[in-house]
Amino acid sequence: MEFLCLLLYILVAWCLSSSELVGAELQDQDILHAINQELRVPGWGDGNNSDYCNWQGVSCGNNSMVEGLDLSHRNLRGNVTLMSELKALKRLDLSNNNFDGSIPTAFGNLSDLEVLDLTSNKFQGSIPPQLGGLTNLKSLNLSNNVLVGEIPMELQGLEKLQDFQISSNHLSGLIPSWVGNLTNLRLFTAYENRLDGRIPDDLGLISDLQILNLHSNQLEGPIPASIFVPGKLEVLVLTQNNFSGALPKEIGNCKALSSIRIGNNHLVGTIPKTIGNLSSLTYFEADNNNLSGEVVSEFAQCSNLTLLNLASNGFTGTIPQDFGQLMNLQELILSGNSLFGDIPTSILSCKSLNKLDISNNRFNGTIPNEICNISRLQYMLLDQNFITGEIPHEIGNCAKLLELQLGSNILTGGIPPEIGRIRNLQIALNLSFNHLHGPLPPELGKLDKLVSLDVSNNRLSGNIPPELKGMLSLIEVNFSNNLFGGPVPTFVPFQKSPSSSYLGNKGLCGEPLNSSCGDLYDDHKAYHHRVSYRIILAVIGSGLAVFMSVTIVVLLFMIRERQEKVAKDAGIVEDGTNDNPTIIAGTIFVDNLKQAVDLDVVVKATLKDSNKLSSGTFSTVYKAIMPSGVVLSVRRLKSVDKTIIHHQNKMIRELERLSKVCHENLVRPIGYVIYEDVALLLHHYFPNGTLAQLLHESTRKPEYQPDWPSRLSIAIGVAEGLAFLHHVAIIHLDISSGNVLLDANSKPVVAEIEISKLLDPTKGTASISAVAGSFGYIPPEYAYTMQVTAPGNVYSYGVVLLEILTTRLPVDEDFGEGVDLVKWVHSAPVRGETPEQILDAKLSTVSFGWRKEMLAALKVALLCTDNTPAKRPKMKNVVEMLREIKEN
Ligand SMILES: *[C@@H]1O[C@H](CO)[C@@H](O)[C@H](O)[C@H]1NC(C)=O
Ligand SMILES: *[C@@H]1O[C@H](CO)[C@@H](O)[C@H](O)[C@H]1NC(C)=O
Ligand SMILES: *[C@@H]1O[C@H](CO)[C@@H](O)[C@H](O)[C@H]1NC(C)=O
Ligand SMILES: *[C@@H]1O[C@H](CO)[C@@H](O)[C@H](O)[C@H]1NC(C)=O
Ligand SMILES: *[C@@H]1O[C@H](CO)[C@@H](O)[C@H](O)[C@H]1NC(C)=O
Ligand SMILES: *[C@@H]1O[C@H](CO)[C@@H](O)[C@H](O)[C@H]1NC(C)=O
Ligand SMILES: *[C@@H]1O[C@H](CO)[C@@H](O)[C@H](O)[C@H]1NC(C)=O
Ligand SMILES: *[C@@H]1O[C@H](CO)[C@@H](O)[C@H](O)[C@H]1NC(C)=O
Ligand SMILES: *[C@@H]1O[C@H](CO)[C@@H](O)[C@H](O)[C@H]1NC(C)=O
Repeated sequence: MEFLCLLLYILVAWCLSSSELVGAELQDQDILHAINQELRVPGWGDGNNSDYCNWQGVSCGNNSMVEGLDLSHRNLRGNVTLMSELKALKRLDLSNNNFDGSIPTAFGNLSDLEVLDLTSNKFQGSIPPQLGGLTNLKSLNLSNNVLVGEIPMELQGLEKLQDFQISSNHLSGLIPSWVGNLTNLRLFTAYENRLDGRIPDDLGLISDLQILNLHSNQLEGPIPASIFVPGKLEVLVLTQNNFSGALPKEIGNCKALSSIRIGNNHLVGTIPKTIGNLSSLTYFEADNNNLSGEVVSEFAQCSNLTLLNLASNGFTGTIPQDFGQLMNLQELILSGNSLFGDIPTSILSCKSLNKLDISNNRFNGTIPNEICNISRLQYMLLDQNFITGEIPHEIGNCAKLLELQLGSNILTGGIPPEIGRIRNLQIALNLSFNHLHGPLPPELGKLDKLVSLDVSNNRLSGNIPPELKGMLSLIEVNFSNNLFGGPVPTFVPFQKSPSSSYLGNKGLCGEPLNSSCGDLYDDHKAYHHRVSYRIILAVIGSGLAVFMSVTIVVLLFMIRERQEKVAKDAGIVEDGTNDNPTIIAGTIFVDNLKQAVDLDVVVKATLKDSNKLSSGTFSTVYKAIMPSGVVLSVRRLKSVDKTIIHHQNKMIRELERLSKVCHENLVRPIGYVIYEDVALLLHHYFPNGTLAQLLHESTRKPEYQPDWPSRLSIAIGVAEGLAFLHHVAIIHLDISSGNVLLDANSKPVVAEIEISKLLDPTKGTASISAVAGSFGYIPPEYAYTMQVTAPGNVYSYGVVLLEILTTRLPVDEDFGEGVDLVKWVHSAPVRGETPEQILDAKLSTVSFGWRKEMLAALKVALLCTDNTPAKRPKMKNVVEMLREIKEN
């Protein structure tokens, strides 16, 4: 019977088309079966379904011949040689799998192939010369593999090639001059390889070349003027090579050039004035070269300029007055040059300026009183200059400042107490090596986020004010070489500082110095020691505490940022003024959403403040509505910016790994987008809000209060999600009821998981030594250990469970001074309170059964929030205990 059918089928087919094609058709089916046997493609099942044109990722042409095969992101490995038998193939996408071995030479037989994408696999060996036979190829992407050897000359046969990507491999040798004969080329990337030699002049023959990215190779010689002659170039990235010579004036031809990154080379000469013709210029980054001459005022004509980085060159002269016209300028980095004169007041008109770094120059004017007119300024780095005069009192108006570096100048007068008003100051306040005198203003004690304070090498006098103990985040302090006297206040960060931080003063005494302050002070000290210890403990839970932790994270970022001078590919774009940022990379991991998500729309959504849903410690969340109707939540990461380009591949790998960390109580990333230096993580949008909203925002309407059984289910769900995370060795950085989202069925899902993996893409979870979390959820030991741990997560979970049981906020003034929810609950027996006074009475009085379950859950919460980390249960035991409560 089967045979008859087949015969009939062949006959019919034969009537409809030529016999040769039928042969081919049957062959394609067989080939796909064989491919499935080899690779076991998820979604293809056992492959018995003969309707292979409908198999996932397979697309057929009119004659049922396979023309497209998309097996990207399937975690596949195995022999891919067979695919070369699919004779009609036009598009072959095997990107983001685990294929290894050499690229099959037989791929060169696919004469109709237009797109070949082997990105992000482990293909080894050299690029087969046979690929040169793919004369119809328009797009060739071999990036992010482990390919070695030279670019084979046979590829010059790829005359139709438009996109050519071979970045992030181990390729060596020259960039062949025949690449210039690929006249249809628009995109050529070969960054992160071991290519040497020069950029061939012939690249200038490519009339449509738009993107040229060759960073991180060993290329040398001049940047050829020819590449600017056709004038279509939009992105030029040559960072981290060995280029010499001057930047050609022909660069002015490229009206569409928006991004120029030529830092970390050996370029010399001046910046050509033709740079003013580049009306689209957004980034200009040329740091760490030997460029000289003046900072040309023509930059002021580039009205879209967002980042100008000329650091560590030989520029002289002054900052051009015209720079005040740069309304979009966010970062002006001129450090390490020989610039002099005033800080021009015109700069104060740059309303978008976020970072002003003119450190290590010869600026010899004063700090203008209006300096804080730049309302967005976060980094004011004026250190190592010859700046004179006083620090203006108006400095207190720089409300957004995170870092203030004024060290090694000739500043006189006192420290203005108004600095205490810059409550955001976190990274550093450095006034060292100046001529400042007078006392330390006690107002500095209000800087409770500040991590590093350096007032050394001035003529400051008086006592170190005890008010400085308000600087709860302080880690580093330097008072040395001043005229200070009296006791060093008893405050952990002070006593932990080395004695060198106090040397060279008039008469400081007490710990950590060798000189005791005498009996009077010693008594005083012992008392203070206890008190301040208690203050610290109290503060960790009290309404005053700040995220010590978070600031450390910020600090670590900054330190890392500086260490990684290599990663200079970036600048911050706070609110994109650019309408269409170029997406560098972007992927949707979830197959059935691939069509539904428009990455450009995603990017645009994050440029509008009206789409903002929330802003957290590590990210800002936006809502993005796709044209397809799908609604996404888009998380825009903070602080990763500078290194993101460089660690892109690692980050992407991490995200893809996480996208496979599949648990129903964990938010799973569905994709990401990287544009410019911004990373966006895509998630499903959860319209039902967070657990925090459910518990705390509906208190006025009892009918919307979740009942006990649904609360218990939520508690179990969250615990299961966290237990799974710990099982795969991921520690969450920020557990709170605000990070528990609720789906349409009130099933809880834990969010912000990626953050722990992305904070430092170069390291795994185990080595994250940064401490973070939301206030009220931070375990007491974090303040001392600076280490995120699984027991720390258990503590934070315990707080969430207490919220569920009590319907109370983790921190509430009602608890009394220095008392948070955990302390309030733990001290209930001492206060002689009944369970009803702790548990939410609206629930515990409903039935005897509910009360019993709530009391049992309260016991679990008390265990989780034990002061001693070792006494807390493991997350998986928490799950067991709660399940038992539910089942009994
Ligand atoms: C699919 O075909 C294989 C042989 O190719 C056979 O062993 C298997 O039972 C078939 N499965 C189904 C569901 O028909
Ligand atoms: C398929 O056939 C239709 C008409 O039958 C034709 O318009 C179309 O161009 C063909 N497509 C291909 C890929 O050959
Ligand atoms: C892959 O399969 C082909 C035959 O389809 C074979 O010739 C080749 O040796 C195989 N490659 C490897 C690495 O096993
Ligand atoms: C494929 O190409 C190889 C050379 O790379 C050749 O030897 C072989 O005959 C070709 N196979 C087919 C089926 O065309
Ligand atoms: C490979 O390059 C092509 C052409 O530039 C691009 O369309 C494709 O998205 C790239 N593949 C991956 C996985 O990024
Ligand atoms: C480029 O093409 C021209 C003619 O089309 C040829 O003369 C020249 O040799 C080619 N250059 C290279 C490097 O192959
Ligand atoms: C860069 O060029 C200099 C000479 O100009 C040479 O000494 C050095 O080794 C080169 N560096 C690399 C990484 O090729
Ligand atoms: C540059 O800014 C102008 C307005 O000054 C705008 O019209 C243009 O679209 C911008 N170009 C780019 C590439 O962003
Ligand atoms: C600043 O330095 C420049 C160059 O050395 C000098 O010409 C100028 O007079 C100085 N200005 C002040 C105010 O000292």
